[in-house]
Amino acid sequence: MNEQLNNQKALSEIQDTVAMAMMNTSRRIMTTVVDFQELLMRYTCALKEIQTKLEVLNTEYNVRMQRNPIVSIHTRLKQSVSIMEKMERLGIPFSLENVEKYLNDVAGVRVICSYLDDIYTLADALTKQDDVTLIRTKDYIRNPKGNGYRSLHLIVSIPVFFADSKRNMKVEVQIRTVAMDYWAELEHQLKYKQEVPNENEIATELKFCAEEMAQIDLKMLSIRKRIEECTEKPTEDEILLEKLQKISFKLE
Ligand code: GTP
Ligand code: MG
Repeated sequence: MNEQLNNQKALSEIQDTVAMAMMNTSRRIMTTVVDFQELLMRYTCALKEIQTKLEVLNTEYNVRMQRNPIVSIHTRLKQSVSIMEKMERLGIPFSLENVEKYLNDVAGVRVICSYLDDIYTLADALTKQDDVTLIRTKDYIRNPKGNGYRSLHLIVSIPVFFADSKRNMKVEVQIRTVAMDYWAELEHQLKYKQEVPNENEIATELKFCAEEMAQIDLKMLSIRKRIEECTEKPTEDEILLEKLQKISFKLE
């Protein structure tokens, strides 16, 4: 009888221990999920900061130069599953610290410009702001990839201010012309299709297109410059009049 009681007591202790362990595990999982969501929220805020900085520059150039160097801005947050896949691919153990430390492209901004020189003007104006730290530049315009890919890639870090803390967050900024973007979208489709008949032939044609587009980008820039050069320099009165007119313009 006594032995039966002892067995029951021991069994109930084991059950309590298992239940406690399961609770601790699920609490740990829940904490990690909440922390991960918070990390993604911080990257989302960093994207907003960079987007605002770029929009401010575009508005300023619009007033000063009467044209918008930026055609469009797209932001994207890397999907959770892609974050995990990339960590695995890089052979880095998954932890939130490691995501922040080793991944540069959780937050991504793509800026599409009209002209080649706009790309470098914007990149300079952004990276010289005193709260922006340039971590890495990859200039695939001066050094295009073998397949013909062109774009300027910057990895920057910016401080984001929250209620009780300031966090430096990394953002990948890709800046390219409309033509480069048009090309990259199509090439991306080729890259992610499993089986493409005549893949090599298509890749060769794509590379040829990339080079033609690079020539067009150069020609368009040169034509724009020629038009700008032949425009007569405005007198002081004309500049003042233009500024006055701008004041009544609706700012974007
Ligand atoms: P991951 O490719 O993200 O691991 O980064 P990485 O550190 O090698 O950076 P890189 O700057 O070379 O590329 C980053 C991003 O640029 C990619 O995720 C694509 O969005 C874009 N990209 C780079 N190379 C190509 C390319 O050949 N074709 C296209 N369509 N996009 C490219
Ligand atoms: Mg990437």
